[in-house]
Amino acid sequence: MNPIAPKCNVWASSNVADDLASLLDAKDPKQVFLLMDEGSERHCRTLLSPVHSLLAENSIVIPSGDDAKDYRSALAIWDFLSSHGATRKAVLVNLGGGMPCDLGGFCASTFKRGIEFINIPTTLLSQVDASLGGKTGMNLGSLKNEIGVFQMASHVLICSDFLRSLDMDNLLSGFAEMIKHALIHAPEAVDRLLDFDFKNVDYALLHDYVAESIQIKNFFVEADPQEKGLRKALNFGHTFGHAFETFAMRSGNPVLHGFAVGWGMVCELLLCESKMGLDSNVVCHVCEKVSRLYGPHDVRGSEDALIELMTHDKKNDGSGINFTLLPSVGNVAINQIASEAEIRDVFARFADLQNHLF
Ligand code: GLY
Repeated sequence: MNPIAPKCNVWASSNVADDLASLLDAKDPKQVFLLMDEGSERHCRTLLSPVHSLLAENSIVIPSGDDAKDYRSALAIWDFLSSHGATRKAVLVNLGGGMPCDLGGFCASTFKRGIEFINIPTTLLSQVDASLGGKTGMNLGSLKNEIGVFQMASHVLICSDFLRSLDMDNLLSGFAEMIKHALIHAPEAVDRLLDFDFKNVDYALLHDYVAESIQIKNFFVEADPQEKGLRKALNFGHTFGHAFETFAMRSGNPVLHGFAVGWGMVCELLLCESKMGLDSNVVCHVCEKVSRLYGPHDVRGSEDALIELMTHDKKNDGSGINFTLLPSVGNVAINQIASEAEIRDVFARFADLQNHLF
């Protein structure tokens, strides 16, 4: 087990069963519970089979998908823990993507006022984002992550074996957050990420890039754990991105989070060019490469609905639509407000770019 972000107990693991067993032995918890969704139970559970303290009768399986990240699943988890006699010394292991990590973290943090939890993220998106940084929570109806608490996982185990079974779209989805991390904090990493060969994935190289990405996320988390200021840097690409994601979901054509963030980053880079003076050559180069990774996305005719969604984004504080922007690659300016006219201009330029490329 090698440290990736030692202050936050994030570890690279080449043998996740052995490493989890040692972490659990060191803690000697009264009981260990394992939370999975149906997908992680089917595809990832076997890698943990050698861990003797994970008893079949202490496994909790919830449905897959963001719809299951709600109070019904939370109630089922609390009920399970309670009816199986979990004490404050129990540990909950969350195995899966962002959904089980977020929801499991929330249930653990609130059960008996808080028991320890260990995250084992199995998707690229959850390895570089959701499993890290202490944001736990659940949805309330259609409001994403409306209920939750900040509570750091006791440990996070990052194992690249899980990534080998991910399909290309899920790899690309997580990769968008890695590109974001480079754009906000590691200019030197941008081109090597944009040139990553997805036709012939080098998983060892990907693992190194994942570790770098985790370190960038942790830099912002450590500086501002509760997102009072600097951590908002991590919202780059997400004001447009969340609007794209919600609009697509409500139209019955859901898109993966990272694809929405990819298109969102292109739009926000265009906004950085017009509003912050970000170098046009850089904008052109990065927008073209990111657009080619995430493919076409038609916004024409949806501008009003998207602006409406952006207006109600929970990142706003009442003064307008709030963005994290980049005056230059690697430098962030948080709490930037853009007018509706500026946003409409971005949609028009985004549509032109898409026409030109696809
Ligand atoms: N996903 C952004 C953050 O954790 O702050």
